[in-house]
Amino acid sequence: LNLLHSAVCLQFSSLLLFCFGLCSSWWGGVQMGPPDPILGVTEAFKRDTNPKKMNLGVGAYRDDQGKPFVLSCVRKAEALIASKQLDKEYLPIGGLGEFTKACAQLALGNDSEVLKSSRNITVQTISGTGSLRIGANFLSRFHGGPRDVYLPKPSWGNHTPIFRDAGMQLKAYRYYDPSTCGFDFKGALEDISKIPEQSVILLHACAHNPTGVDPRPEQWKEIADIVKKRNLLVFFDMAYQGFASGDIDRDAWAVRYFIEQGHNIVLSQSFAKNMGLYGERVGGFTVVCKDAEEAKRVESQLKILIRPIYSNPPMNGARIASTILSTPDLRSLWLEEVHGMANRIIKMREQLAAGLKKNGSSHNWQHVIDQIGMFCFTGLKPEQVERIIKEYSVYMTKDGRISMAGVSSGNVGYLAEAIHAVTK
Ligand SMILES: Cc1ncc(COP(=O)(O)O)c(C=O)c1O
Ligand SMILES: *[C@@H]1O[C@H](CO)[C@@H](O)[C@H](O)[C@H]1NC(C)=O
Ligand SMILES: *[C@@H]1O[C@H](CO)[C@@H](O)[C@H](O)[C@H]1NC(C)=O
Ligand SMILES: *[C@@H]1O[C@H](CO)[C@@H](O)[C@H](O)[C@H]1NC(C)=O
Repeated sequence: LNLLHSAVCLQFSSLLLFCFGLCSSWWGGVQMGPPDPILGVTEAFKRDTNPKKMNLGVGAYRDDQGKPFVLSCVRKAEALIASKQLDKEYLPIGGLGEFTKACAQLALGNDSEVLKSSRNITVQTISGTGSLRIGANFLSRFHGGPRDVYLPKPSWGNHTPIFRDAGMQLKAYRYYDPSTCGFDFKGALEDISKIPEQSVILLHACAHNPTGVDPRPEQWKEIADIVKKRNLLVFFDMAYQGFASGDIDRDAWAVRYFIEQGHNIVLSQSFAKNMGLYGERVGGFTVVCKDAEEAKRVESQLKILIRPIYSNPPMNGARIASTILSTPDLRSLWLEEVHGMANRIIKMREQLAAGLKKNGSSHNWQHVIDQIGMFCFTGLKPEQVERIIKEYSVYMTKDGRISMAGVSSGNVGYLAEAIHAVTK
C-alpha cells in the first residue's frame, strides 16, 4: 500500500509540474506598460507618409538640412585617439581621471575656489541620466534631511521616475506661467519659501526642459537667497551647458553663483547635447563638499554605490570629451561649434515668430524668441496638438513642446503655417 501511495504521489506531482509549465508562466502577472511619451511620438512620425512631415518630439540637434550632426571636433578627437592605439583595460570605478578633472573645471570654472581647496569629487557617469540616478541613489542613502525632492512644475519627464525609483519622494514648486509662457517668478519664490528645511530642490542650470524658460541673473540671486534661508540641498541638473546661449561660461553662471554664495551643491552634467555625444553616454556627477576630508569620504561611498551597478563606466566617449577639453585647438573648435548650434536655434526661433506674424497670426509669439535652448513651449493646447499632428504631420509632445533643433530654413515656413492654422 505504501509503495502504491508513493507511486501515485509521484505521478501526481509530475502532473502538477507538467501543468504548471503549460498553463502558467513566471510573468503572467506583468501588465502591459504605457509607451514612452517622447519615443512614442517618433514611432508615430515614422509611420507617417506625408513628405512634409516634421518630428519635433525628440531633443537631438539637427543641422539645417535636418540631418544628425557630428561635430568636427569630435571627428578629430576620434582620429587622434585611434592613432594612439590605446588599450581597452577597465577604467577605475569613478571613471577616466583626465575626464572628471576637465568636466569639473568646465562646470565650476578653472579658477574655482572649490577646486583649489580640493573639496570636490567628480565621478564619470552614464551621461546625464546616469548622473542623476547616481546622485539620487547617493541622496537616498546619505541625505539626512527629508526624503523629498522638489522639482519645477513642469520638469523633464524622466526626473520623476529617476528619483522615485531611487526611493525619494517627489514634490513640486511653481515654475512656468501659462498665461505669459514665461517664468512664474512670484509663484516660484512663494513655493520655495515654504519648502521644509533641508529638503532637496532640483534646479535646471540653463535651458530648462521642457519650457525653455530660465530665470534672469537677478532672479537667480533671489532664488539663491531663499534657498539659503530654507537651508535646502541644491541639485543642479546641467544638461545643456553652452547650448543655451552659445557661451559655456554664461550658461554655468547660476551654478557658479550658488557656489560663491556658499551652497554646497550636487551637480549633474551631460555631454550629450553640447558635444553631440548622445549615444556615447558621457556625463559627470559632482559633489561640492565642506572640505577635502569630506570629499574623500564622499568619494569612497560613491565608488561603493557604483561598483555593484555597472562596476565602471565606458571609456570611449570620456576619451573623446577629455581630448576635446584638454587639446587647445580642439577646445576652441568645440567652442565655435557649440556657438554655431546655439545660434542656428536662436535664428530658427526668430524666423518662426516672424513667419507666424507674416502668415497673419494675431497672437503674441514673443515667447518663442525669449525662450532658450533646445525646446520651445509653444502654448498649443492638447486639441491643437492633436490637429497639427493629424492635419499637418507636425509631431510634438502633447504638452505643446517642440524641439527647435528639428526646425530648419527649409521647413520653418511650413511650421509657421501649420501653427497659425491650428491657433487661428
Ligand atoms: C533636463 C535634462 N536632464 C538630463 C538629461 C539627460 O540626458 P542624457 O542622459 O542623454 O545625458 C536631459 C536630456 O534630455 C535633460 O533634458
Ligand atoms: C577636484 O578637481 C581637481 C581640479 O579639477 C582635480 O584635479 C581633482 O581630481 C578633483 N578631485 C576629485 C576627488 O574628483
Ligand atoms: C581652462 O582650462 C582648460 C584646460 O585645462 C584650458 O584649455 C582653457 O583655456 C582654460 N580656460 C580658461 C578660460 O582659462
Ligand atoms: C508663412 O510664413 C512663412 C515663413 O515666413 C512663409 O514662407 C510662408 O509663405 C507664409 N505663408 C503664408 C500663407 O503667408
